[in-house]
Amino acid sequence: MVYIVFLGAPGAGKGTQAASVARKLKLVHIATGDLFRQALERGTELGLAVKSYMEKGVLVPDQITIGMVLERISAPDSGVGAVFDGFPRNLKQAEALDEALARQGKAIDKAVHIGVSEEALLKRLGGRRVCRQCQAPCHVSDSPPRVEGRCDKCGGELYQRPDDSEESIKKRLEVYSDETTPLIDYYRRAGKLLEVAGEGGVEAVGKRIVAALGGERL
Ligand code: AP5
Ligand code: MG
Ligand code: ZN
Repeated sequence: MVYIVFLGAPGAGKGTQAASVARKLKLVHIATGDLFRQALERGTELGLAVKSYMEKGVLVPDQITIGMVLERISAPDSGVGAVFDGFPRNLKQAEALDEALARQGKAIDKAVHIGVSEEALLKRLGGRRVCRQCQAPCHVSDSPPRVEGRCDKCGGELYQRPDDSEESIKKRLEVYSDETTPLIDYYRRAGKLLEVAGEGGVEAVGKRIVAALGGERL
């Protein structure tokens, strides 16, 4: 049972790498952005509540986000451990997660921070396409799908996220810098931070993450 947090700016590769680590370690992948996008696709009440925040690139209110994650981690399948992707995103969320896990006699084991230059982030976000069905990301030039417009993993339709517009990207980078970067210190002080260089191809970065997490267990 392991609980891992992935930290990194928009486009750093959290979704790409968190999905792969979760698969290798047989943990559940809890991605708040993906959960919100699924709710939007289904037109649920949650989807309607988060739509405007997501489009603008600002954080969804903590009350909604924390409530959704606490519900997710109390589901039986999360008992095996989880990889958190895009959560926590501010100190209040990090403290709420620590408290909720502590109530179950558990704790975050490691926080992986994927560091990527702004230039590379912009290139990655500009060419990203995401699957409507399973949310897996790909990239039009760096990791193109085998069949144009279709997800390699499930065959679902690929689309460009509305918040991958120039204006939203700028806002998301600002929000990350103001609200989320303090978490790097939060996990460093707790002795849980693993810094991983996120430049280079998906596989190279994946190998670095596996090594940082203590390769042999993966
Ligand atoms: P969220 O969905 O979490 O978006 P984000 O943090 O902006 O991060 P991204 O998903 O854009 O990037 P990523 O790091 O996952 O990169 P990816 O692997 O896709 O959040 C969206 C919104 O939801 C927020 O703005 C907010 O409104 C709301 N929200 C979510 N969580 C919240 C929370 N906790 N609290 C409040 N609100 C919340 O990779 C990017 C691209 O690069 C892809 O095309 C990929 O193929 C490519 N790529 C990946 N790795 C490499 C590599 N090594 N080399 C080349 N290309 C690569
Ligand atoms: Mg993501
Ligand atoms: Zn898919």
